Amino acid sequence: MQKNNFYLGEMKRQKSINVLKDPNSKKINGGRSNHLEKKTYTLCADILVGLKDIAIDELYRKFKNRISIIPSNDAEMLYFEYKGSLKDLLSVKTIVAIYLLNKFHIPRPKALLGQQNREKMIDAIYEVLNLYPKGTFDSFRISAPGKDSSVFSRIKDAIEDDIHLPYDPNNGDLFLRIRPSILYKDSWEVFTRISPRPLATRGWRVFNMKGALNATIASAMLEMTKPNANDRFLNIMCGSGTLLIERLQRGKVQTIVGGDINKDTLLNAKRNISASGFEHEITLMRFDVCQLPFEENSFDVICADLPWGQLVGSIEENSTLYPNMLREVARIATYKARFVLITHNVQLFENILPSFVDSWTLVECLKVYQGGLHPRIYSLERK
Ligand SMILES: C[S@@+](CC[C@H](N)C(=O)[O-])C[C@H]1O[C@@H](n2cnc3c(N)ncnc32)[C@H](O)[C@@H]1O
Repeated sequence: MQKNNFYLGEMKRQKSINVLKDPNSKKINGGRSNHLEKKTYTLCADILVGLKDIAIDELYRKFKNRISIIPSNDAEMLYFEYKGSLKDLLSVKTIVAIYLLNKFHIPRPKALLGQQNREKMIDAIYEVLNLYPKGTFDSFRISAPGKDSSVFSRIKDAIEDDIHLPYDPNNGDLFLRIRPSILYKDSWEVFTRISPRPLATRGWRVFNMKGALNATIASAMLEMTKPNANDRFLNIMCGSGTLLIERLQRGKVQTIVGGDINKDTLLNAKRNISASGFEHEITLMRFDVCQLPFEENSFDVICADLPWGQLVGSIEENSTLYPNMLREVARIATYKARFVLITHNVQLFENILPSFVDSWTLVECLKVYQGGLHPRIYSLERK
């Protein structure tokens, strides 16, 4: 795949706008599989700051030479070319959202209304609509500088006419982002999100716990454990079950156990786990992390989303909880066990860690960004 055709080349349009207009047309479904699977797309992904390398690793692991990363310094966006069915990209876990990217060599957005540009924009939308059964999308919305201007109102009307979905500025599930190109003069870009909700929204989350871990971050933490099918995996302080479910979605384990001190929280974890279909695979237990009901050398991978002391727990409680937890996890961990944890109570954790120099080696520390906070992920190895 070539890297240099990102902004220069246009993707070859496969069909005329008239053929693509009806998502249920037999022509589209009948002709798509082999033909479109070989198509190359230019895409852009929203990523969480700090997780770019992990997102790239996942793309290469899943799609190998069908992926070509386009170098950029943007910490929150990842550009890449991809060859294959867009549907396959919906399984990506460490990326927040993926968009089809089309560049238009135009000085003002008004030119999107010109026939050729309009067709190109609508074709991209139909690429997305055609991935799903009819009726999946209820409406569309646009994010753009000046989106309330008369020009954008004409653009909205044009899209409404062409795709037969209403415009809903707040809840539109077909999401378009339109903006001037950052790199190229006199150019605008249209991003069409390839899923009705961000990929970070997980279908299994039927119970939304206050302080639950963002699933994209959970997936990134699990990548940092270097998962393999022999893992005996323990998630202490499992809350509503995010890390447990994401671990099994990543692949098989030998055993998987989650525990929390709070009885109600465990019931809610059970609801999410049932919705994920993993209820027969995950063992849930009630325990205090300071007195784990396991023998020495029981687990070789441990994960934790610690109480950060804001929505869950308090800074004061953490000052005794964190050292007790590190001591107890060291007891039940095997030699060279991986322990990946996240906390926002960074100062406390980094003050405590040196006193565990005999038990834990710090392998990696990753600063991430979630909802205005900057928690850190620590990857430790048992000595
Ligand atoms: C930040 S929440 C975990 C959220 C979880 N990752 C999720 O996505 O739902 C921290 C959890 O630690 C649990 N916890 C606090 N102190 C504990 C202790 N001493 N032993 C076990 N669990 C504890 C809390 O009940 C809470 O569910």
